[in-house]
Amino acid sequence: MIITIDDVEQKRKIKFSTFKKIAPFFKEHQLSISLSILGVLVSTGLGALLPLIFRELVDKAIPAKNNDLIFQIALIYLCILFLSVAVEFIQQLIVGFMGIEIVSNIKKKMLSHIFTLGIPFFDKYNTGKLISRIESDCEQLFMLFSSIGLQVLWAVLNILISFVVMFSINPKFAWLTTSIIPVFTLGSLLIFKKMRPMFRKERDIYAEITGFLSEYIKGIPTLRGLCNINWGIEKFKKINEQRWKYSAKIHAIRSAIWFFLMLTPNLIIAYILYESVGWVKQEAITIGTVWLFIQYISNSIQPLVMISEQIGEIQRSFGAADKIFDILDTPSEEGKLAKYETLSAFCKNIEFQNVSFHYKEGESVLKNISFEIKKGETIALVGPTGCGKTTLLSLLTRFYEPIEGRILIDGKDIKHLKKENLRSFMGLVLQDIYLFPGNALDNIRVFREDIEPARVIQSARDVMAYDFISKMPNQFYSDLAEDGGNLSFGERQLLSFARALCFSPELLILDEATSSIDPYTEMLIQKSLEQLRKNRTCIMVAHRLSTIAKADKIIVLKDGVIKEMGTHEELLNAKGVYSGFYYKQLGEQHNLSFKPEGELC
Ligand SMILES: Nc1ncnc2c1ncn2[C@@H]1O[C@H](COP(=O)(O)OP(=O)(O)OP(=O)(O)O)[C@@H](O)[C@H]1O
Ligand SMILES: [Mg+2]
Repeated sequence: MIITIDDVEQKRKIKFSTFKKIAPFFKEHQLSISLSILGVLVSTGLGALLPLIFRELVDKAIPAKNNDLIFQIALIYLCILFLSVAVEFIQQLIVGFMGIEIVSNIKKKMLSHIFTLGIPFFDKYNTGKLISRIESDCEQLFMLFSSIGLQVLWAVLNILISFVVMFSINPKFAWLTTSIIPVFTLGSLLIFKKMRPMFRKERDIYAEITGFLSEYIKGIPTLRGLCNINWGIEKFKKINEQRWKYSAKIHAIRSAIWFFLMLTPNLIIAYILYESVGWVKQEAITIGTVWLFIQYISNSIQPLVMISEQIGEIQRSFGAADKIFDILDTPSEEGKLAKYETLSAFCKNIEFQNVSFHYKEGESVLKNISFEIKKGETIALVGPTGCGKTTLLSLLTRFYEPIEGRILIDGKDIKHLKKENLRSFMGLVLQDIYLFPGNALDNIRVFREDIEPARVIQSARDVMAYDFISKMPNQFYSDLAEDGGNLSFGERQLLSFARALCFSPELLILDEATSSIDPYTEMLIQKSLEQLRKNRTCIMVAHRLSTIAKADKIIVLKDGVIKEMGTHEELLNAKGVYSGFYYKQLGEQHNLSFKPEGELC
């Protein structure tokens, strides 16, 4: 998976609906917001006084050679300058703390919401994308909340105040000197607009590098094992070189822009000075007023450049907000029903009635599946890879919902039950065994502290996992490597059996992974499976002949339909798909050359 920010960039329009969604996060920060706005007003107001004070100095105190007045004005100037900076400092502290708290609240809300979402959501969002949503999109929002918002307010205020003062002092001279500003603003707006796709591409390349690293670092052992490590090195070099070249190009353009942005205001000032010569000569304005204009024009140009530059940032922040709310608006897995039924015990049976399912429209995975499991029975699901075995189990656990048909437990349609209620009867052993970073004990009880260690140890004993766990340096308190990397495949499977048993489920759902393991581990797994199945209903995807043969009913799936169903003997006698599969596997196990009559795998 390559992390791309394409989707953040797609939605770049600032929408009112996004404002409405962001607003509630500010509700409890009304005091901070009011203080910050007041801070901006005060610091901008104070800052705007400085050129006026300066004018007094130039026009009155200096020509009068009045040292006392010069000293007084300089002191006032300093005090106001200090006050303005101090207010700005406090306001930035307030707004920064507020931003940190809001973003941390959004992250908290996102994370807890993500935990409630269903499996289809995770089909859409891969880990990289989600991390990018939680981290970089939230950080982008932080910028909006903490700095950009007030910067824009500061900029607008500065421009407004500067213009009002200039036009009220000398409207004619104001017209003359400010007329050049729109041209400058338009120029910088255009430049930044042209630059934005470039910045975006730079970030895309950066995301490609991050994605490459997150994807391929895990694959290093495979690449090394297959003597193709150079491929990885070369590929990385290529992307990195591309980034380097592009960044260098952007750096050069950026420097050129800054040259323009630094030079132009000075040219404008030179123009004002040039124009003012005649005005001063005619005594239409004073030198102090010329200075005042120069300072106000500078005060207006700086915010204008900032706004032109920040537009992209603001749009990106709103894009990030949209993406964050896409997640927050995704309904939780439980959904809402007007009325739920409750299943307090599993007593009788499970029925699949004409169940059909697809992940994508038009690509049917399961077609018209009907069968029954009686309480206490073991059902084995067999079939070639991709025929829909895991999918069928996912419908029973309600990770996905049937498109047609229904699944009943004790006559109750499971879609009318709370998922929590339904799953409380189930013990799941999934095909991909996920082990959490942490010790063996917590991995077995899945961090449920109400499950006593004694029960965990007993479950491990029952499924033959005790031996290998007790040989680890800290036994049940030994830390497991990332995703169980320090355990063999067989050990991981035994651990997952212990996990299922620990929760004493009434219904065991087991998606057995195919893997060749040594005969001793095979024997251990067989024994532990026997333990797991004891006194409980079991529906399992099975690959081992011995397990399959012991099932009360075998369902043979192929191309999403049930091809055969019956006991081991019945299906062998039928000499169909199952018998072909059975003899083929038996032949492989004993290295004999049986000729299969039907083809399953
Ligand atoms: N989340 C998903 N989104 C889209 N298609 C999927 C998804 N999961 C599975 N499929 C597709 O559905 C079909 C059935 O997949 P399923 O995992 O149920 O097969 P399976 O019988 O369990 O295979 P295996 O024996 O290899 O585990 C396959 O074609 C697979 O590519
Ligand atoms: Mg499967």
